[in-house]
Amino acid sequence: MSDSTQRRVALVTGASRGIGEATARALAADGRLVVLSARSTDRLEAIKSQIEADGGQAAVQPCDIADHEALAGLVEQVAGDYKRLDVLVNNAGITRDNLMLRMSDEEFDEVIHANLRSVFIACRAALRPMMRGKWGRIINIGSVSGLVGNAGQANYAAAKAALGGLTRSLAREMASKGITANVVAPGFIETGMTESLPEQVKQGARQATAVGRFGQPEEVGAAVAFLAGEQASYITGQVLAVDGGMTMC
Ligand SMILES: NC(=O)c1ccc[n+]([C@@H]2O[C@H](COP(=O)([O-])OP(=O)(O)OC[C@H]3O[C@@H](n4cnc5c(N)ncnc54)[C@H](OP(=O)(O)O)[C@@H]3O)[C@@H](O)[C@H]2O)c1
Repeated sequence: MSDSTQRRVALVTGASRGIGEATARALAADGRLVVLSARSTDRLEAIKSQIEADGGQAAVQPCDIADHEALAGLVEQVAGDYKRLDVLVNNAGITRDNLMLRMSDEEFDEVIHANLRSVFIACRAALRPMMRGKWGRIINIGSVSGLVGNAGQANYAAAKAALGGLTRSLAREMASKGITANVVAPGFIETGMTESLPEQVKQGARQATAVGRFGQPEEVGAAVAFLAGEQASYITGQVLAVDGGMTMC
């Protein structure tokens, strides 16, 4: 923790695999001290070791983002431990897919709770430390489902779409404080979240994507790392689709 006063500190939720892991690695490669969070402590410890072996700095702070008291506590703890919090990436997310006709109240509420309310909680907790530092980068991971909708994902698409409004409001409130807030909206990315999709759905997704393939987590992580950087200071309140051209208009 000795040089954390110089290094910018980034907190990434859902960092145990997929897009969150790739994002954490990209931020560490850019010289950030990255706090890795998720529930799978063993995975986080392994990623931390790999980041350190590559010359980066990382720490592990397990948290279940569905426990909002614990999530706010996580953000406060990181800001307290390192006396700063510069970058917050709200990446952890879940799906509970069902056609709306059959979607239960619980399926709807669970996704809104995990994918939307948690982001509000974490962002709010991050603002004071970022304001103290007069610098901050908040990146919320949305989805193309939130832009164009997706059959079977009314809950998920609603939560991801709402991140746009939340993030734009936050961007307006914080622009004068040196804090930017943006959404990165991935298309179909090769992760655990998409691997169990039926082959027919995967084929349809490839066809709907201009580049004709699924994206890699690293391709999303690179976009997040750019928005988290010094050079992205004039970009705020935006939704950046990283989707191989799926939603271009
Ligand atoms: N893959 C895609 O095609 C795609 C497309 C658009 C948007 N996205 C979004 O991108 C983000 C990452 O998705 P992914 O594809 O990388 O998913 P993934 O491979 O399923 O990974 C999800 C991550 O979130 C964590 N997580 C899930 N529930 C959690 C909870 N209750 N508390 C704490 N951490 C939790 C998981 O860690 P633990 O299980 O260890 O807790 C894991 O690290 C999500 O917000 C997702 O909606 C993905």
